[in-house]
Amino acid sequence: QGRGTSTVTPRALQPLLPLHIRRAQAPLTPPTPPRGRLPRRRPPGREGGASRAAPRAECRAASPPPCCAASPRRAGDVTAQVSLQPALKFNGGGHINHTIFWTNLSPNGGGEPKGELMEAIKRDFGSFANFKEKLTAVSVGVQGSGWGWLGYNKEQGRLQIAACANQDPLQGTTGLIPLLGIDVWEHAYYLQYKNVRPDYLKAIWNVINWENVSSRYASCKK
Ligand SMILES: [Fe+2]
Repeated sequence: QGRGTSTVTPRALQPLLPLHIRRAQAPLTPPTPPRGRLPRRRPPGREGGASRAAPRAECRAASPPPCCAASPRRAGDVTAQVSLQPALKFNGGGHINHTIFWTNLSPNGGGEPKGELMEAIKRDFGSFANFKEKLTAVSVGVQGSGWGWLGYNKEQGRLQIAACANQDPLQGTTGLIPLLGIDVWEHAYYLQYKNVRPDYLKAIWNVINWENVSSRYASCKK
C-alpha cells in the first residue's frame, strides 16, 4: 500500500511510533515556513525533535529535476525548445536511423545490387568492390559510436558515403538522403564479434537487403 492510504497513522498518535515509521510517513515535501518569518532554529543537540520527523534527504532537493526544468510549458517558449534540441537529435535520430537500418537488413540478403543502383555505384565509386571497401573503411573509422552511410546527394545527382557521430541523423546533419545505414555502436556487434568492429563490418555485407536499398534509391530520385 502506498503513502497516503489508510496505513498513515493519525497525527495525534505519530509521536508514539518508532522513528523509522514516522520517517516513512513524513510528507513528500518539506513544510513551507510562514511568509516573512525564518524557521526557528533549535539549540545545538536538539535537532530533529521527537514531535516531528525530519524531512528525508530526497525531499530537501529544492529545484525541480532537469527534465521538468527543460519542458516547454508554454507555446513559444523558445529557450525551453532550444534546450531540448540535443535530446531530440539523439532520441529522434536514433529512431530514424534504426527504422532505416532494420529494413536495410534481411536474413536472405547479401550479394550485389542490380539495375539503376548498381549502375550508380559503378559510376560514382568505380566498382562495387571499391564501394564496399570505402563504406567499410569509413564505418570502421567512426570514432566511438556512430553510423556509416550510403546516401544520395540530390543536388549533385550522385551517391556519397558519409559517417555520422552518435545518433545524428544523416539527412538532418549532411543533407544526404539515407539509402543504407550501418550501425557501428558497439551494441550492434559485441555479442557476436566482441570488440572487433572490422569483423562485424566484413560480415554485414552478407545480410544487406539490396532490394530495400534499391527501392530507397528509386524513391529519392523521383
Ligand atoms: Fe543501434
